[in-house]
Amino acid sequence: MTKPSPIKYLISIILSCLICMLTFPGCIGAGAPAARTVGIAMPTKNLERFVRDGEFLKTQFEAAGYNVEIRYSNDDSGQQNNDVEYMIADRVDLLIICAVDGVTLSQTLKTAEEYGIPVVAYDRLIMNSSAVDCYISFDNYTVGKLQGEFMAKALGLDERNDPARLEFIAGDPADNNASYFFRGAYDALEPYLDSGKCKVLSGKTAFTQCATQDWSTDEAYENMQNLLASYYVGGESLDGVLCSNDSVALGVSRAIDSDYNGKAPVITGQDGDIINLRNIVDGRQTMTVFKNVNDEAEAALEVSKAILQGETIGSNLLSVIDASAAFDDTSYYNGKKYVSSFLLDPTVITKDNLDELVDTGMYRWDNDHRYLVAQDR
Ligand code: BGC
Repeated sequence: MTKPSPIKYLISIILSCLICMLTFPGCIGAGAPAARTVGIAMPTKNLERFVRDGEFLKTQFEAAGYNVEIRYSNDDSGQQNNDVEYMIADRVDLLIICAVDGVTLSQTLKTAEEYGIPVVAYDRLIMNSSAVDCYISFDNYTVGKLQGEFMAKALGLDERNDPARLEFIAGDPADNNASYFFRGAYDALEPYLDSGKCKVLSGKTAFTQCATQDWSTDEAYENMQNLLASYYVGGESLDGVLCSNDSVALGVSRAIDSDYNGKAPVITGQDGDIINLRNIVDGRQTMTVFKNVNDEAEAALEVSKAILQGETIGSNLLSVIDASAAFDDTSYYNGKKYVSSFLLDPTVITKDNLDELVDTGMYRWDNDHRYLVAQDR
């Protein structure tokens, strides 16, 4: 075989490169993500919002050229530990974790740290771990504050003379967010509780007394039934139930339907789950605090890209996050460090502004323009 001349050899190399660049344009440029894999650990498929989160995260990361390994842990912290261990063993390039239990991942994450795998705490902060690089969520305290302020207004607490009766149904104590939601709501209502304009007949005003394991609808239903049977018999009226999210609000509205004959109390919620939006139209729930999880997933993508490219993680990234958000590195201490946090803004939704949800592109009206349904993707 004759050897090609050096000139011909050089021309053939240049031609091959050109063909390659035209055929695979995604391969051009620094930090091309094609070979990178992101491991996503979601808590459960039983709560509507995390199914949405999982889908948005997967779609957005794949569209940006990443491979995605996603696991749901059935609300079981042991299973989530295993899931994360598998992903570390698979040598994913970055982990995005929405913790089932904020405190049980620290040992597993030591291994991630040893292998240099960055960790993004998604929606829920991961405690007692120096491995967490940043936290993407909504302003959790504000979510609760919006619920509390809404309740105060809906019950006319500034104007009324007779005390309103209120109960609290809070979230999962293992979820670091749950106490923030509760505290935000409680702080907004505390002046009225102190002045006697608002009363909690059960006396359950501490987070631990109002918590609901796994944010379970069934447990919230039973808790509300017990409260009604113990404190609201013989004509005692219940004016409001401060529910921390939609899954517990659903249990509460079911208990009100089955076990309470008075005027429907004001019921708060959070997330914008389809069945709760239906209840809002039907007057069985009064409001929900909507958190756009498509925006949350997009923020997670932008911050992850920056981490993988070795960029600074700070307020500089707010310019690449599309949604309205704040950067905070002084509020979320996880027991080991102040975690750099990107906190998006939540929105109050009632039956009067459901169109705002349609505007997000995530919901549409049904054929009768009565209820919202999930937008097909
Ligand atoms: C989320 C809420 C959700 C709750 C139960 C919390 O960590 O922030 O949006 O309602 O978990 O799923």
